[in-house]
Amino acid sequence: MLEIFFENFKKKVKVEPGANLREVAIANRVSIYPHIFKLLNCRGRGLCSSCRVEIVSGKVSERNEVEENNLRRALKKNPDLRLACQIKVEDNLVVRSHV
Ligand code: FES
Repeated sequence: MLEIFFENFKKKVKVEPGANLREVAIANRVSIYPHIFKLLNCRGRGLCSSCRVEIVSGKVSERNEVEENNLRRALKKNPDLRLACQIKVEDNLVVRSHV
């Protein structure tokens, strides 16, 4: 089992390796969506970019093409940004949401 610490919520959760970060957050009642995007999001299809998170520490899957395309501009300001819906958890993580 791996452990994810959601920094904004001061909440730790246990997950199996390979789990999807967005699904883990939802299952544990951690909101990764800011404001109205709690309702208006693409449900993990990688289209809306509203599930942005910053991986503060730990290793995750490589950034895929969906992330590269949707985060292109934002990555210039913060190269640690990821889309939670595209991440497979491969390590203990510290995650900052609403970035
Ligand atoms: S939920 Fe829309 S990009 Fe992740």
